[in-house]
Amino acid sequence: VEISVAAEDLELSGHEHYMLKEMREQPDAAETCLRGRLDERFATARLDGIGLDAREMRGFRRVKVLGCGSAYYVGQMGAQMIEDLARIPADAEAASEFRYRRPIIEPDTLYVAVSQSGETADTAFAVSEIKRKGGRVIGVVNVVGSTIAREVDGGIYLHAGPEIAVASTKALTNMGLAFAMLALHLGRLHDLSFADGQRILRGLERIPAQITQILDDEPAIAEVAGEIAQAASTFYIGRVRGFPVAREGAQKLKEISYVHAEAYQTSELKHGPLALINAQMPTIAIIPGDDLAKRNVAAAEQVLARKGPLVSITHPGVELDHLGVRSIVVPKNEPELDPILLTIPTQILAYRAAVVLGHDVDKPRNLAKSVTVE
Ligand code: AGP
Repeated sequence: VEISVAAEDLELSGHEHYMLKEMREQPDAAETCLRGRLDERFATARLDGIGLDAREMRGFRRVKVLGCGSAYYVGQMGAQMIEDLARIPADAEAASEFRYRRPIIEPDTLYVAVSQSGETADTAFAVSEIKRKGGRVIGVVNVVGSTIAREVDGGIYLHAGPEIAVASTKALTNMGLAFAMLALHLGRLHDLSFADGQRILRGLERIPAQITQILDDEPAIAEVAGEIAQAASTFYIGRVRGFPVAREGAQKLKEISYVHAEAYQTSELKHGPLALINAQMPTIAIIPGDDLAKRNVAAAEQVLARKGPLVSITHPGVELDHLGVRSIVVPKNEPELDPILLTIPTQILAYRAAVVLGHDVDKPRNLAKSVTVE
């Protein structure tokens, strides 16, 4: 495999950090990921590299996504998209656990290994274990010709370009897009209607410009970050489609700002962790403008009633102003695709908090860009 990388891809080009550069590259990276893959004629996604024909794809009764860290959290988003659009049972699991628990490999399950580097040992091992037991596995991978990319039966390349910062941003966004296209593709082979297929295609086309809109809001997000940086501990809460967003948001904050962050399902708050809420414990609440918005607002009220500072990451039209909550408002897309966009403010928040605290953003302590050992 021939891999060519333009020199400017590896330079800071005037940006303060690689992470900032890579966050700002997201509209272009997303555009590249989608290019040539949106099929208007059949209202589906064309995924030529997948290496499985329509009959095989239709035969899968289950989808299992495997990845580590942030890739695992985006895998959770992806599994939800597959259930939503294709109505095939799907879930995500940490590849680092999978390899140790004598997993049952089923012939009618489609396994999906997700990895930016394609070199993560835990994920690569899961792939070889699945293959050894006769399972079908595809990759959602950024680095062309990497170990995982070579071992899978086929896959979807992310086309995010080289990612240098340890904290993954543009690759994760493109993973979200790749899963959306996989879900659309599977959906249209099952019972997703032509009209719904078109609705998702339109939504995907809007994403690059909507990412730009979120990035333009950076100064407002930076203000919130100043406050988060002073906290000893924080909560990220979200439910259903919003929960992987909360998990990824908490992960980013921990990774580069070293501020403790715990992700929780909003619905589980009242079953225990509400006891931790006080004026020193900020909560970042993911509140999409969907059918669960009212319940999420009610949970936000519970936090506020206990004097917990609250920041929402939300959509236009969600009524929170009367509560005095600070909101980061993200442009609305289709409900299935919203998690991709809701994640972006959490990157900026973590980045700005780390900068305020004076940390080495691109090379956080104790972490490597890709974990190639056990
Ligand atoms: C992301 O910000 C992290 N650095 C980390 O969780 C990462 O996503 C994980 O180690 C998986 O890496 P991969 O995508 O290269 O397999």
